[in-house]
Amino acid sequence: MARKSMHGEWSSRWAFVLAATGSAVGLGNIWKFPYITGENGGGAFVLVYLACIVVIGIPVMMAEIMLGRRGRQSPINTMYDLAVESGHNPNWKWLGWLGVLAGFLILSFYSVVAGWSLAYIFRSATGVFTGATADGVESLFLDRFLAHPETLLFWHTLFMAMTIIIVARGVKSGLESAVKFLMPTLFLLLLVMVGYAMSQGEAFMQGLEFMFRPDFSALTWGGVLTAMGQAFFTLSLGMGAIMVYGSYLSHTASISRTTFTIAAADTGVALLAGIAIFPIIFANNMEPSAGPGLIFISLPLAFGHMPGGVLFGSLFFVLLSFAAWTSSISLLEPVVTWLVETFNLRRITATLYAGIVTWLLGVASVFSFNEWAFEFEFAGVVKENGIFDILDILTTNIMLPLGGLFIAIFAAWFMSREASRDELGLGDGMRYNLWRFLVKFVTPAAILLVFLNMLGII
Ligand code: TRP
Repeated sequence: MARKSMHGEWSSRWAFVLAATGSAVGLGNIWKFPYITGENGGGAFVLVYLACIVVIGIPVMMAEIMLGRRGRQSPINTMYDLAVESGHNPNWKWLGWLGVLAGFLILSFYSVVAGWSLAYIFRSATGVFTGATADGVESLFLDRFLAHPETLLFWHTLFMAMTIIIVARGVKSGLESAVKFLMPTLFLLLLVMVGYAMSQGEAFMQGLEFMFRPDFSALTWGGVLTAMGQAFFTLSLGMGAIMVYGSYLSHTASISRTTFTIAAADTGVALLAGIAIFPIIFANNMEPSAGPGLIFISLPLAFGHMPGGVLFGSLFFVLLSFAAWTSSISLLEPVVTWLVETFNLRRITATLYAGIVTWLLGVASVFSFNEWAFEFEFAGVVKENGIFDILDILTTNIMLPLGGLFIAIFAAWFMSREASRDELGLGDGMRYNLWRFLVKFVTPAAILLVFLNMLGII
């Protein structure tokens, strides 16, 4: 009864771990985590985020990989088949649709920010940051970069083209060896940055305190929602990306071990990024709540003052761009597999269609930082970048948790106990029962609780 994927299979469990870690570790860890931590007051936010990774993220990731491996198709057709085969309503396919739509919306703004990272490779390499002041790097980012839509458009276009090329060739070729080599290098470079942060004297302790001393008076329900959304975003959950990757996973691989490896690597990178960045912010009297530009202002300042900064800076943005690249691929993949299955398109044609529409939508995010910028308040945080922020909040804070809620409900309440037990390979004892208890009750209740609180219902 086991299906085979028409799109092929990973060469080994490690290939899957690498690809899934490549998907998880990206801008979400290094760009987004520090800036939303800064916007939401630090420690308490980080604590809620970590709790969400453990209570919601890990169980949902296991569920999502499991559904993918059983369905072996795009999220839409997987949900349809799994529902029908277990005697339930085919309308579960809409869960697949929700995911495909979310992936497409996320990629549109993700690509714009990944473009910034590409641009910063060249800026670092030319040495413009050397000796720059805090005001200097800020003005380089805001006035000489974000203010120019044509520049942002150029880098967004380049990044989308890079994503299209890899997805068109099939995500399984080439990705493996690249991730194997570049991920550990990124990790090492983050350690170098943490080393630099340590040299900032008192500011290092200030940074650590900001991140790890919880002050719950600084946290709103909106902040809790953002932390929960971030748990989904950073692990690539709730929209079918990990489901599609799971659909290429061989039947013999252990889903639970795989999930722990991915979640640990992902969380480690995010925490290191925070530990590297906040001391630089405090040492230079900058604002932790500066918003999406946070790392593009703080890190260049550090590169401008540390020995070997030109080299480290360029290398850092090369690796960040690469991490974004391996993530963006997984955002495009679900749509492409669906187009291929449904319309019998060639992979390259499907990728081009999906890529071009995403690129077009990305233009709205490009203009959100200049011509079309407008401010609004979301749960006590002032957002300055109009459509970009709306797309981010809509997808990260609403669509992904909603997708995760239904994935958990389907896996625990609609799939038979035998089916999930066989897939997960946790045995039939405590560990399996713990997982089942989490996805059956705890995860859905936690997500609903946060949603209802946000809506002011409880
Ligand atoms: N997890 C990636 C990051 O942290 C982004 C990402 C890739 C993603 N695929 C996803 C987010 C699917 C949500 C859903 O940068």
